Amino acid sequence: MSSAKKLETWPIIRRMIRDYLMKYRVQFGWAILFMAISAALTAAFALMIEPIIDDVLTKGRLEYVWMIGLGVFVLFVLRGVTTYAHTVIMNFAGQRVIGDIQRDLFSHFISLDLKFFHDHPSGQLISRIVNDVSVMRNTAADGMTGLGKSLLTLIFLVGVMFHQDVVLASAIFVIFPLAVVFVMWIGRRLRKMSGRIQDHMASLSDMLSQIFLGVRVVKAYGREGYEINRATQAIDRVRDMVIKSVRIGNLSTPFNEVLVGTVVCGVLVYGGYQVAAGETTAGQLLSFITAFSLAYEPIRKLARMNNSIQVGLGACDRVFGLLDIPPDISDLPDAKAVTFKKPDIVFSRVTFQYHSDEKKALNDVSFTLKGGEMTALVGRSGSGKTTIMNLIPRFFDPVSGSILIDGQDVRHIQIESLRQNMALVSQDITIFDDTVWANIGYGLNGATQDDIIKAAIAAEADEFIRALPQGYDTRLGEEGLKLSGGQKQRISIARAILRDAPILLLDEATSALDNEAERAIQKTLSELQKGRTTLVIAHRLSTVQDADHILVLEEGRVAEQGRHHQLLDQNGIYARIYGAGLSE
Ligand SMILES: Nc1ncnc2c1ncn2[C@@H]1O[C@H](COP(=O)(O)OP(=O)(O)OP(=O)(O)O)[C@@H](O)[C@H]1O
Ligand SMILES: [Mg+2]
Repeated sequence: MSSAKKLETWPIIRRMIRDYLMKYRVQFGWAILFMAISAALTAAFALMIEPIIDDVLTKGRLEYVWMIGLGVFVLFVLRGVTTYAHTVIMNFAGQRVIGDIQRDLFSHFISLDLKFFHDHPSGQLISRIVNDVSVMRNTAADGMTGLGKSLLTLIFLVGVMFHQDVVLASAIFVIFPLAVVFVMWIGRRLRKMSGRIQDHMASLSDMLSQIFLGVRVVKAYGREGYEINRATQAIDRVRDMVIKSVRIGNLSTPFNEVLVGTVVCGVLVYGGYQVAAGETTAGQLLSFITAFSLAYEPIRKLARMNNSIQVGLGACDRVFGLLDIPPDISDLPDAKAVTFKKPDIVFSRVTFQYHSDEKKALNDVSFTLKGGEMTALVGRSGSGKTTIMNLIPRFFDPVSGSILIDGQDVRHIQIESLRQNMALVSQDITIFDDTVWANIGYGLNGATQDDIIKAAIAAEADEFIRALPQGYDTRLGEEGLKLSGGQKQRISIARAILRDAPILLLDEATSALDNEAERAIQKTLSELQKGRTTLVIAHRLSTVQDADHILVLEEGRVAEQGRHHQLLDQNGIYARIYGAGLSE
């Protein structure tokens, strides 16, 4: 996901301020005020060194001793309080900002099309929300506090230095830009590297989530060693990149130490001569050295901060990049909300492919699903059955051709209202790590417990649900870990029954059930299908024999259609599939 394009710093910062920081400007304002006070107090201490040395220690003017002593005490107390205040306020705002970004990222992801999720594995997306944003969290926490505070402290201390000795201070500022150039160079390299680290981390977490989800297969085939190897390689890649980035990031430390050593040495020698010549006092010189030593810490912090800010900006850039991905499928301006009753669904010359470089999953397909009737889709694996089902709720849009429901092109219907008219049992069943209540209730907003139980009874699920340890309150675990395949199917059928929608889409809804359970559910389903436009996909032809209409797909085209007996008489593909089914 990383790109070689040059990172543009200012647009990222401007957008960050506009979209996220502005909301907390009051907090940031207070934080900056406290930072300024705290920074000014540090500089004040450096200034006070002069009277401490010259008046209190050298000349021993007792009238100053208490005043200056107490002054120093008050100064430190105030500095403690203001530092605490700005740190807490800044973190409050910073963490809020991070939370806002995470929420926005998630809301954006979930609003995108299935195509986005096919192109971006879930592990990667999780990593963006968790890892990239946590990098930003670090930047926000130490970055923003440190940056403001260190800059302000530095400015005040530089003021003190110029106040005490203009020549020395100017000399230092000739050397200083050198350090800045070096630090910037390190920062740029680090930002690039952090991009690569985050990418590797994203693929690592993606790989891990895939392995854990497929753990049954891993064990069945005894591939633990293989997976350990694969994971180790990914872990090592991240590790090596991080080590390298630490090596580069900390180059600034030896560089800075040498720089500071040079400066202090120069100041001492030059200042020593000045004091000896009576040009300056010991107090002034020491005040200067104090200011310079105190300035060293913020400079060092700024140098390191630059790194963490660069890394944070890199993360920001990637996060904004994801936020900018527009949904392919969205409401047209003239899209209307609709409610259907027994609608006809017409596919008119529909062609579709998942990716432009792949073969067509559907090729110029036309047919009609009659309102209130049950149409069955049959055909070999990969012939395009699920694809047809994906197009009706607009999970994808056709490349050409159109889909009309009651004469209205689906593209002119508000997506939310379009999908509200459908109940879907998909081929790969999704069970959430939540209670049975929630899993069935997913079908209908605001369903009561009574509704849910009724749906479960109709789906022949009530009995086994009650036998679960906590009945309907049982949490089903990731991917419905606690259920058999057939039980999962019955939960998802209950979900669809609860939805009570005029269009019913059943993709292998009963494939995991045994004959007996299937017959029982079939009764419910036929009951449910009455008065609804139903599209059923089934491998077992016994379930589709009674369909009002049967479409036979072959390689993305409608090869045959008609009723069961008509198709048998044609003695074509359907008859062949049927014959194979009988001998099972
Ligand atoms: N997400 C996807 N990305 C790319 N190609 C896909 C995707 N889903 C399906 N295809 C391809 O589209 C074609 C039709 O697939 P589809 O899922 O519609 O088949 P199907 O008839 O439902 O098969 P099955 O009976 O096995 O479920 C296949 O060639 C398949 O490889
Ligand atoms: Mg399928």
